[in-house]
Amino acid sequence: MPLIYQIAIIHIIMIKEILKNPEKFGIGNQVEVKGWVRTKRGNNAVAFIALNDGSTVHNIQIVADLAHFSEELIKQITTGACLRVTGKLVESQGKGQSVEIQAESIEIYGTADPESYPLQKKGHSMEFLREIAHLRPRTNYFGCVLRLRHALSYAIHTYFNNHGYFYMHTPIITASDAEGAGAMFNVTTFDLHNVPKNAEGGVDFSQDFFGKHTSLTVSGQLEGELGAMALGKIYTFGPTFRAENSNTPRHLAEFWMIEPEVAFFDITDNMNLAEDFIKYLVSYVLEHNYDDIQFLNDMFDKELIDRLRFVIDNEFVRLTYTEAIEILKASGKKFEFKVEWGVDLQSEHERYLVENHFKKPVILTDYPKSIKAFYMKQNEDGKTVRAMDVLFPKIGEIIGGSEREADYDKLLTRIREMNIPEKDIWWYLETRKFGTAPHAGFGLGFERMMLFITGMGNIRDVIPFPRTPQNAEF
Ligand code: 4AD
Ligand code: MG
Repeated sequence: MPLIYQIAIIHIIMIKEILKNPEKFGIGNQVEVKGWVRTKRGNNAVAFIALNDGSTVHNIQIVADLAHFSEELIKQITTGACLRVTGKLVESQGKGQSVEIQAESIEIYGTADPESYPLQKKGHSMEFLREIAHLRPRTNYFGCVLRLRHALSYAIHTYFNNHGYFYMHTPIITASDAEGAGAMFNVTTFDLHNVPKNAEGGVDFSQDFFGKHTSLTVSGQLEGELGAMALGKIYTFGPTFRAENSNTPRHLAEFWMIEPEVAFFDITDNMNLAEDFIKYLVSYVLEHNYDDIQFLNDMFDKELIDRLRFVIDNEFVRLTYTEAIEILKASGKKFEFKVEWGVDLQSEHERYLVENHFKKPVILTDYPKSIKAFYMKQNEDGKTVRAMDVLFPKIGEIIGGSEREADYDKLLTRIREMNIPEKDIWWYLETRKFGTAPHAGFGLGFERMMLFITGMGNIRDVIPFPRTPQNAEF
């Protein structure tokens, strides 16, 4: 039996709809819009108000004949004020817009005192906007970012859903710090002035909320693998936390990560998935959010659209870490951090490969096992593991992943070599004990992807409320 229900939802007209499809509303017809004033200009006879409701980067022009409105009301219409306007939709006389609204009534929901409202003029610096993170969604730039974050999230779910993956919710609070991806934030309900001690003088976590030491997760991967060993194809998409004091334009203490994990995939399948996934995401936003991207392209980064298309149109270069080291050594370039087989690549090395040498996105594989996590599949050479990092222009590492070690004994040996307490990870080891299977996965940093899609230089400007060292005001 079909379920029939009907609920009346108040329909608020979005400015985006009017601008995109004025015929639907009808030239000469009455419309009502609600939004925030971006600018007001005019003369003795008429006021032109640019109104934005967040549905699009474009404003609708409201034309207010001053003869119809009190001076008092017009005075209160200043940048930042919130209005409801009804009026006639007409073809625009001026340049820059096809239609405008001839105001018949204006209601002011909220004024914004020009003496104190901080977003008076255009062209504020990104640094200044970070200081007013509570108001920056009202800027054109940040409106684009928020709409793109939404679209990208939707595209991520769409991609995986279309390919038969299940969205798995992995815990944010974890008792395991085995991943080794970064320093962790403690989670506790202890009174920090009076922490219970054990017989040895250490903290007695058995008295804490979970009866053990817990932290905020650095990654959902280990739990994600448990899902993949039952459902075949899963992905996680959630917040992750890293407490290292990395004050760089590419690091956040709280960021979102997407982690697919797939049974029966080897490293080549994993690379193919990563490349296909990224290309899909870029195509999706170009197709669905072109206005926002064009705005960013025109105002901030004239090569943005070219760079996005370039990624879709070109195959990513694939090579091993060892080959990359040879290229870097032969480059003759003076790097701040010396290049030698065995060192972890710094962002300057990654960017040299991508931006100078190959001029394409690069996937590096088969890193030395000493610089990678315990769970990566060990190669026959005994020195390297089946890791893969995807490196992008202007960003460096955007994806980190690997084929996983599926062999119980090899994994256990590695865990012991790396002094990882088995008591913290016994449940993970059991996946290799009961019905183990080859599998692989990776993590895409959501904000690093946003950096690429927006062309921005600082990761603090692609997340609503950035968490970085010494900064959690909003
Ligand atoms: O390379 P990472 O540390 O890999 C993992 O956490 C694995 N467990 C992923 C997996 O195989 N399932 O992190 C993955 C990605 C990086 O490539 C980067 O894009 C992003 O997460 N990332 C950060 N983004 C912002 N701020 C930070 N501090 C980040 N650290 C990593
Ligand atoms: Mg990494």
